[in-house]
Amino acid sequence: MNKTYYITTPIYYPSGKLHIGNTYTTVFCDALKRYKALRGFDTYYLTGMDEHGKKIETVAEERDMHPLDHVDEMAKETRALWDRLDITYDDFIRTTEKRHKTVVQKIFEQLIEQGDIYLGTYKGFYCMPCESFFTDTQLGENNTCPDCGRETSQLEEESYFLRLSKYQKRLLNFIEEHPDFITPETRKNEVVSFIKQGLNDLSVSRTTFDWGIKVISNPKHVVYVWIDALSNYISALGYGTDNDEKFQKYWHGDEVVHVTGKDILRFHAIYWPILLMALDIPVNFRLHAHGFYQAKEGKMSKSKGSVVYPDTIINHYGLDELRYFLLRELPYAGDGIFTPESFIERINYDLANDFGNLLNRTISMINKYFDGTINRNPDFTHEADAALEKHLDETILQYKESMDSFKVSEAIKSLWSLISRTNKYIDETTPWILAKSEDKKDDLENVMYHLAESLRHIGILLTPILPDASQALFKQLGVLERLQTWESLEFGAGKTFDVVAKPNPLFPRLDSEKETERLKGIIRGEEDEDIEPVDETNLATLDDFNKLDLRIAEILNAKYHPNADKLLVLSVDAGEKEPRQIVAGIAKDYTPESLKGRKVVVIVNLEPVTLRGERSEGMLLAGSNKKKLEVLTVQGLNAGDHVS
Ligand code: MSP
Repeated sequence: MNKTYYITTPIYYPSGKLHIGNTYTTVFCDALKRYKALRGFDTYYLTGMDEHGKKIETVAEERDMHPLDHVDEMAKETRALWDRLDITYDDFIRTTEKRHKTVVQKIFEQLIEQGDIYLGTYKGFYCMPCESFFTDTQLGENNTCPDCGRETSQLEEESYFLRLSKYQKRLLNFIEEHPDFITPETRKNEVVSFIKQGLNDLSVSRTTFDWGIKVISNPKHVVYVWIDALSNYISALGYGTDNDEKFQKYWHGDEVVHVTGKDILRFHAIYWPILLMALDIPVNFRLHAHGFYQAKEGKMSKSKGSVVYPDTIINHYGLDELRYFLLRELPYAGDGIFTPESFIERINYDLANDFGNLLNRTISMINKYFDGTINRNPDFTHEADAALEKHLDETILQYKESMDSFKVSEAIKSLWSLISRTNKYIDETTPWILAKSEDKKDDLENVMYHLAESLRHIGILLTPILPDASQALFKQLGVLERLQTWESLEFGAGKTFDVVAKPNPLFPRLDSEKETERLKGIIRGEEDEDIEPVDETNLATLDDFNKLDLRIAEILNAKYHPNADKLLVLSVDAGEKEPRQIVAGIAKDYTPESLKGRKVVVIVNLEPVTLRGERSEGMLLAGSNKKKLEVLTVQGLNAGDHVS
């Protein structure tokens, strides 16, 4: 039976649009899941949404929505984003789902009964955005929140408490006995010193708002959002229900991995294991807490216009480009910086030059010298072969070691060193010179084979990182499915390559300067960034389209609407006996004078409406983006001509 691998992301707050920071965690877990699947593990990848709490209630209020409608919308958007990013999650849990709520309520009651959760009163300082209480000694200057720096307010309320203190020693021992429990090492040290300062019992319920899971035996309390949220890792597997096969299989399986950002280390490294200990569930997960993506000037900030959104990047530059940058640029133990310069450079140097060119050159040469087919011929060797083959073996080992210890960026570095080594092999063997002498044909074939076989290896190791590019590589190089597996990572396993006749460059080179400037504008939101995908679920039929009567119309006259700043009132000749009046929302973009005499496209069979007292008998067509709107204009046609 295959070994199991269960990996989770934090569940995200539906409080705003997800940026490249949250995306990083999700792509990182996706790469690890794909890697483990490649290695033959039975994998299960969980992600989802953390939908309760005061903060979410407030955001929904601000949008004038019921919290449930708000979170439904955000969950839909988030799933659509993960689908766009080709995230191979197996389950998407939402804490508002019944399957989750029942488990949390059950856990809470069990812990009350056991005496691990008790009722008391909380007096202290409360940070609303962080939904956390702090003691005097924990507070920052002027009673500010030690985590986010914002103002806290003094509160006294009845609250349930989880006896963290009871488990303090056991947790410290556990961490000592399991040196790999928390990575990187620096994060582990932070956790240990935090525990050593002494753990206060944790307030685990709230009475000041409603948007949460009610405590069954005392419903004026809702469960603290972190207890609610952390439980998702087992509720999603069916823990505590009649249907708990997944829990038995994956939680009690071979590997369980929680990946989070460094910001929520304490919750995962202290509260979560203690909760599990109290529930008598084995603490058999590993926790990896990665650093943060920042802008050049520090934290990404909406007000400074420095937040980078993944869909924007994908729209303009592509999915693999984004995945590559995110996974390559964040170091194992530190923070990473996203700058337009570095993003464009990575595309140009790493993807277009080093990798893309290697594939292109290899395929072109195999076509040119061998009509597109190359075979292994072990009777011939070149003196440069051994070094390349050695590098290849070493790369596989390094890559494996790195991926097994959450060092995805290091794994990519080793892979790129193989790419550079393979490029160097071309310089060493100079195929274009070998091609000049007929008696060097076998040598040349051996060289070409080495290039193709190295690329096959590169393609396999790239699978978890760049799923699209690796598939394209296999296709262009003609690699059979059985030679795309981890087991086939052995030099010489590929025997024949039938390459495509015309390679299609995977990563075209970009004009650095121009694109960097453009990307800066895109990040600041100056370019139309939301190129929405076509909604395939709502297609129009030809009949729908034919219902519209579209005609060319000449604008005879135009004036400002007497009662609305944004509207113009137009009189147009659509080839009929009388002119028509149309009211159009284009006053911001056109003066009435500038429109006279233009021939535009108008829908003439819309039901007439009255807009602020002016009758409108049609609609004119215009295109727009965030910056401008342009009325569609024609030149050679006449008023009344049909548009279809
Ligand atoms: N809802 C909690 C998690 C509960 S898990 C039981 C939460 N959600 S969050 O939406 O605020 O985002 C969580 C995660 O997003 C962080 O832990 C981190 O993984 C990721 N990141 C948020 N900003 C980030 C960066 N700027 N860079 C990298 N990762 C970042 O906390």
